[in-house]
Amino acid sequence: MRKPLIAGNWKMHKTLAEAAALAKELKDSLGTMTDIDIVVAPSFTLLNTVVTTVRDSAIAVAGQNCYPRPSGAFTGEISAEQLKDCGCAYGIIGHSERRQLCGESNAFINQKVVALLSSGLRPILCIGETLEERESGQMLTILKEQLVSGLRQVLPQQAGEVVVAYEPVWAIGTGKTASSAQAEEVHAFVRDTLGKLFGHDCAQKSRILYGGSVKPANIDELMTQPNIDGALVGGASLQADDFIKIVSFTRP
Ligand code: 13P
Repeated sequence: MRKPLIAGNWKMHKTLAEAAALAKELKDSLGTMTDIDIVVAPSFTLLNTVVTTVRDSAIAVAGQNCYPRPSGAFTGEISAEQLKDCGCAYGIIGHSERRQLCGESNAFINQKVVALLSSGLRPILCIGETLEERESGQMLTILKEQLVSGLRQVLPQQAGEVVVAYEPVWAIGTGKTASSAQAEEVHAFVRDTLGKLFGHDCAQKSRILYGGSVKPANIDELMTQPNIDGALVGGASLQADDFIKIVSFTRP
């Protein structure tokens, strides 16, 4: 009953010409798919080109970040309004690379979630534990805090627009995917937490993605899990062939 969603996070990769070529290949292969939501998240400089290339197709575009104010003297930042204006429908927020490299706090990430929702964009809120946090038994506490703080001030009627992406930090770019059982354990916990925050019905409708070394070889197994509704793909989203295979995972 939840429509699967596969998103490609291109991170800080691609020139304009490369991005246009990749977007065109994806549009040609996937542009008319209706049983799945497909999202690509290029760098800010590539957004206009990618939005133009995938226009009138099933592929939606996401920003990789935003600043939580509508406009103003915030040199170097991009607002949710600007993402919307440029044709984005989603924004990735709270990626572990931003949490770790840019020192983003749960409170700051929460402001961005609220800003995206106010602008009519769907936040893809990333959460995830480090290996130390997992091994020291703090995993669920950390994830709960990321979720509860990240979704503060979100109203129950808006919560269905939020997509949560569980990305264990130790699985990102390492080739070490969480096993489907490890991922499912966390996804079930996330859905339970969403239920406590927003009610059972809303939690049942919310999409929870897995991210971390998702590849054509492991997507089928991940997607068999009842609480895994899709994937947030990094490295494998940079090659059209791999991303097309992932989006074309075996349907049950
Ligand atoms: P990889 O798929 O390269 O591990 O990256 C995952 C990720 O961080 C997506 O946001």
